[in-house]
Amino acid sequence: MTNNYVKIFDTTLRDGEQSPGATMTSAEKLEVAHNLARLGVDIIEAGFPAASPDDLEAARRIAVEVGNPPEGQPDAKVPVIAGLARANKPDIDKAWEAVKDAKRPRIHTFLATSAIHMKHKLKMDPEDVVQRVSEMVTYAKTLCSDVEFSPEDAGRSEPEFLYVVLAEAIKAGASTLNIPDTVGYTTPDEFYNLIDGIIQHTPGMHDGITISVHCHDDLGLATANTLAGIRAGARQAEVTVNGIGERAGNTSLEEVVMALKTRHPVFNLETGIETQQLSRISKLVSNYTGIVVQPNKAIVGSNAFAHEAGIHQDGMLKHQTTYEIMRPEDVGVNQSNLVLGKHSGRHALRNRLAEMGHSLDEIELDKAFARFKELADRKKVITDLDLEALIADEFYKPRDVYLLNGMQVSCGTMGMPTATVRLRGPDGVIHTVAAIGTGPVDATYKAIDSIVSVPCTLLEFNIHSITQGIDALGEVTVRIQSEQGSTTMDAQSEVTYARVYGGHGADTDIIVASAKAYINALNKLIIARTEGSEKVKDNIGVMLG
Ligand code: KIV
Ligand code: ZN
Repeated sequence: MTNNYVKIFDTTLRDGEQSPGATMTSAEKLEVAHNLARLGVDIIEAGFPAASPDDLEAARRIAVEVGNPPEGQPDAKVPVIAGLARANKPDIDKAWEAVKDAKRPRIHTFLATSAIHMKHKLKMDPEDVVQRVSEMVTYAKTLCSDVEFSPEDAGRSEPEFLYVVLAEAIKAGASTLNIPDTVGYTTPDEFYNLIDGIIQHTPGMHDGITISVHCHDDLGLATANTLAGIRAGARQAEVTVNGIGERAGNTSLEEVVMALKTRHPVFNLETGIETQQLSRISKLVSNYTGIVVQPNKAIVGSNAFAHEAGIHQDGMLKHQTTYEIMRPEDVGVNQSNLVLGKHSGRHALRNRLAEMGHSLDEIELDKAFARFKELADRKKVITDLDLEALIADEFYKPRDVYLLNGMQVSCGTMGMPTATVRLRGPDGVIHTVAAIGTGPVDATYKAIDSIVSVPCTLLEFNIHSITQGIDALGEVTVRIQSEQGSTTMDAQSEVTYARVYGGHGADTDIIVASAKAYINALNKLIIARTEGSEKVKDNIGVMLG
């Protein structure tokens, strides 16, 4: 690999997913991992396996299914699959157990090096930190040939101390040194100097070591800092789709990749990312987590390529480059406006979905075709965006514990909004309930609540239309929080959080879309409670040491 190649290390499934509110089911994580591989990321951080047996199992499935070439294609390129571990043996063992069946496994271990973290969080002396790093990287190396080490809170650590710690990690066998700005504190100039200093002054630094950067966005500087680190010589960027992550989030994958591509003459660097897939994976992650992408988000926001102002529209009509520095099709927006309709057949649908990157088996195609025909009866022209929503609604969802079987709502100014909802329950029994509410969505959710009976709080409800026009599909995302102790543990703070579940639904009827989104989120919560949360609680005792 030439040194003008920047490896993209995606941590959507670890730093992204572990932030409160971004919970994904194992099936969703696997689907995201498949899509990350298709996008061309070099490394997928599949999780923090010590958080719970569920997290370990989800990472293990990714290692097996995404981290190995498909049958009959032994030479196909597969991403490295990494598991995160605190610098202790039980964590490292669990990370190894999770990733060992990948063709290219990596253990990523970390220990804090800033004075604040060593004193208040670790309660360790600097000498003990150096020794622990040496011992744990050595131990990880006995299990796995590819070991990455991160000095947590490097952005606030003394550079001279970092040189000492990193030198020990190199001696012990780490081949990637990741430099995190854990709390998003540094500025681009400072971060450039930090990376430059590490490359110049760390004893034992050699060409076989990859310097990596990992920035958080607390001051909105994550992308700028990452690019500064890359200019200083880092050749791995740790990023997440849509920039999801702790607090204000991590560096966003799409921003770094498109900055390197669009300003190629400035950086003269390459990545292996197929940028036309950016828009699609952004949508997928947003649907799964329920975290809506803000409209003005760079690259993947719905307004990123919209030109409202008259003067801009005038310029665009004269020449696209007047106000567009990237082509929307380069990030997968409006690749095709076409376009299927009522008379399009199964074959046309299969081809279009395959071009969009969805390879469905016969049963899935049957379901997709039935949904497509149903939609085509209601909506004249079906675009790629409609198809994406339909696929997300039909397939990107957890196992159906409860399934919407029918509903009817009356509302308006003449009476009480009333919803009658029919759900098929896990036992196959049909439940029908009517409820009144302050509006049609409230009435619908009350009816669903009285059938499902799982205490939760609705944190967020978002609705938007997927395409223009009065017959457009409406898309709803919701986020709910369990009121009954379903928790997960964060790798760094070792704090447990009540889990938040996202749900997604699409339909030309926005109340039906709202019901589907809520049921989707409730199903995730129920699955986690029955399969995961107890195990998570068992594991909270695993602490540093
Ligand atoms: O932000 C951070 O310091 C991390 C490390 C575990 C790499 O996420
Ligand atoms: Zn982080």
